[in-house]
Amino acid sequence: MKRFSGRVAFVTGASRGIGKTIAERFADEGAKVCLLDVNGENLETTISEFKAKGYDVIGQTADVSVREQVEAAVRAAVQTFGKIDILVNNAGIIRDNLLYKMTDDDWDAVMNVHLKGAFLSARAVQKYMVENRYGRIINISSTSALGNRGQANYATAKAGLQGFTKTLAIELGKFGITTNAVAPGFIETDMTKATAERLGVSFEDFIAYNAAQIPVGRIGKPEDIANAVLFFAMEESSFVNGQVLYVAGGPTN
Ligand SMILES: NC(=O)c1ccc[n+]([C@@H]2O[C@H](COP(=O)([O-])OP(=O)(O)OC[C@H]3O[C@@H](n4cnc5c(N)ncnc54)[C@H](O)[C@@H]3O)[C@@H](O)[C@H]2O)c1
Repeated sequence: MKRFSGRVAFVTGASRGIGKTIAERFADEGAKVCLLDVNGENLETTISEFKAKGYDVIGQTADVSVREQVEAAVRAAVQTFGKIDILVNNAGIIRDNLLYKMTDDDWDAVMNVHLKGAFLSARAVQKYMVENRYGRIINISSTSALGNRGQANYATAKAGLQGFTKTLAIELGKFGITTNAVAPGFIETDMTKATAERLGVSFEDFIAYNAAQIPVGRIGKPEDIANAVLFFAMEESSFVNGQVLYVAGGPTN
């Protein structure tokens, strides 16, 4: 019997990067997994990969910031697997710019994906978790929540997710549902690759520069974040609620 046998995990932004690795770890540990992503092409590729590995997987192309799409994806997951035990709000985007250059659209897009997306997903899923008196909600925040140059929108959204996490912990705890957040530091994904491009430096130099600032002397990998998510998702973690775990190779970076 594997650690998550019999469990159903719903992961947003799961077609690549951290979300894909989280979904893969759950599937590897016996969970049935529902992948949601706005990028249908990447999603198809990931689903094929997962099926080839023998995982029990379904996928939905949907935008987390659109209520109808999120609710339809959650309904489809419950129709297929009968329930959702674990929700990981991972979908994210960056639209970095210094405040004076940040557009209304840069602001709204980031708020919509991170904050509205997590809200819509959690609201749709909690209904089934409350019925089952069991649930694990894990939100992906960031060290940027503590402030980061060029990320007024993203830092605000990631700090907002921490308040959202603590409030859900208070509201949903009595139904056997815990809500926690993982706040990653620098993780090697397409997102950080895009940041290097925007700054006009090679990804290798960007990685070396960042690794030198991190106490453990290396940058993070998606697996580092998946490990922390799995800890919060474990049945045995039922007394851990409303916490933010920084996974950053040091206290905050
Ligand atoms: N990479 C890092 O260093 C880092 C650090 C801290 C936090 N994070 C957070 O971790 C999460 C995953 O980041 P990543 O590095 O894997 O990024 P990524 O860009 O590789 O993956 C993000 C995924 O989210 C999907 N997505 C974007 N908008 C969406 C929408 N509206 N609806 C549904 N899916 C959508 C994308 O298609 C993509 O598959 C994000 O929330 C990010 O903010 C990343």
